[in-house]
Amino acid sequence: MNSENLLHTPEGVRDLYGDEYNKKAGAENAIFEVLSKEGYKKIQTPTLEFSDVFSSSIGTTPSNELYRFYDSEGNNIVLRPDFTPAIARCAAKYFMGEKSPLRLCYSGSTFSNTKSLRGKLREVTQMGAELICDPSVEADGEIIALSIKVLRSAGLRDFKITVGNADYYRGFCREAGLSTYTEHKLRDYISQKNIYAAINYLKEQNISDTDRLIHITEFFGNSDVLDQALEFATNETSKNAVLNLIKLDKVLDSLGVSEYITYDLSMLSKYDYYTGVIFRAYTYGVGEPLVKGGRYDNLLSYFGKDAPAIGFCVITDDLIQALDHQDDIKRSSDDRYLTFALGKGRLASKAMEMLEKMGITCEDMKDKETRKLIFVNEDLKLKFFLAKGPDVPTYVEYGAADIGVVGKDTILEEDRDVFEVLDLDFGKCRMCVCGPENARELLLHKDRIRVATKYPKIAKDYFYNVKHQTVDIIKLNGSVELGPIVELSDVIVDIVETGSTLRENGLSVLEEITPLSARMIVNPVSMQMDSARIKDIIQKLKVLCEEQ
Ligand code: PRP
Repeated sequence: MNSENLLHTPEGVRDLYGDEYNKKAGAENAIFEVLSKEGYKKIQTPTLEFSDVFSSSIGTTPSNELYRFYDSEGNNIVLRPDFTPAIARCAAKYFMGEKSPLRLCYSGSTFSNTKSLRGKLREVTQMGAELICDPSVEADGEIIALSIKVLRSAGLRDFKITVGNADYYRGFCREAGLSTYTEHKLRDYISQKNIYAAINYLKEQNISDTDRLIHITEFFGNSDVLDQALEFATNETSKNAVLNLIKLDKVLDSLGVSEYITYDLSMLSKYDYYTGVIFRAYTYGVGEPLVKGGRYDNLLSYFGKDAPAIGFCVITDDLIQALDHQDDIKRSSDDRYLTFALGKGRLASKAMEMLEKMGITCEDMKDKETRKLIFVNEDLKLKFFLAKGPDVPTYVEYGAADIGVVGKDTILEEDRDVFEVLDLDFGKCRMCVCGPENARELLLHKDRIRVATKYPKIAKDYFYNVKHQTVDIIKLNGSVELGPIVELSDVIVDIVETGSTLRENGLSVLEEITPLSARMIVNPVSMQMDSARIKDIIQKLKVLCEEQ
């Protein structure tokens, strides 16, 4: 590399200096001051750990997100992706015989090997606190209230803590006799509130009585949802999980922090070590939770110490971003606009038609000549913008839009962190493998073939994970049907609606991958911060879809 190329850092890591450095250091000092006042003792663990500390049996970071390498002795080493297992290891090592509550806190970098070009940092600073050897609901309350104090001490004003209980979902899975694999797979759909994918998945697995498992996605909002969730629980584990939250609600009330709290019984973590209460902090301006925490009563036993524990971490870099934005956002937060991103073209017109039926209108958008990009309905405090389909999930993931309307094909291809809350039942078509009739044979024998597509991720998932066929995927940007005609590829993976493009070009559907339609997606933070308004829109659209 020449010296100019050495001036920038690798993607996902960065230098910090000047004001930004001071801001971060100031927030860290304020947080440590609160933690120390509350009796939490500092602890430092190394950046490098044996990979077994984060092994899949612990239920921590997925292995494809780890920075992993071998040291000179052949040990498998990782860059710490998360603090909790490392603190658990440390507590087991230094406090093996200790029975009374241990309060520890820390700050340091964590590393995750995330996908490129997503605007996500690969090295982030986390600060956190862990309360070990205390199984009580008062300990749960202490830790949640502490996370609130910590955010306030850094200067954050407008935020919500969403609380759930991992055992609520687990209880229903046990009751339905799901395997651990099915439980985990379904968890991804449930935690994205993607009930349609969840229902289809359960059907594929021949699991009946899917209502019980799916219905938990509706229990989010204020403490009233706890009574509904309790009434709905049919097994002891789920019942106890809600009873625990009802007790916790009282503890949080006595600690004077109720105004910050909302509940979500379908909030589930990819960290399988959580055993009870889980919680996250959300604020406007940051698309991801600022705080993640929960109870992990079995994790220390993995390191030889049988002790319950609960803790949380603050993602300091996201906190600084939230602090930077909060003054702009505060100006409008009492009367905040809800923003819709609509996929340009037919989907947007159809979506506006539906919204109009429920009284949500935007006259300006009907003007075909306009070059305006953003349209506002001042009375309803709504904003709309049109975007290219593949960009809609991006706007929604980052919170630039609260709600999006986009095709399922785009959701699958973009694989963004959004809630997929509603099948809008229009824009129906199919994702298929297509080609000349004589290519059918190639799909039977797992030959290495060429596949042209606008959807490389969907094609790869299908050929590799469903058909177990190695293929060469060629990305095209449109008129994909040309691929086999000009002999660029053997087959294509593309959308088929009426089938006329295929027919006119002598091609046929060889295999169907998945049915598609327009979906409503929601930013996970907006869902927690504006749950009442968004819930109302979902409910009304659902009724409209059923009437169609
Ligand atoms: C889509 C798709 C097919 C066609 C299918 O293309 O990629 O080419 O529609 O529709 P049909 O089954 O009704 O014929 P689109 O018109 O979006 O343009 P593109 O080919 O440039 O992607």
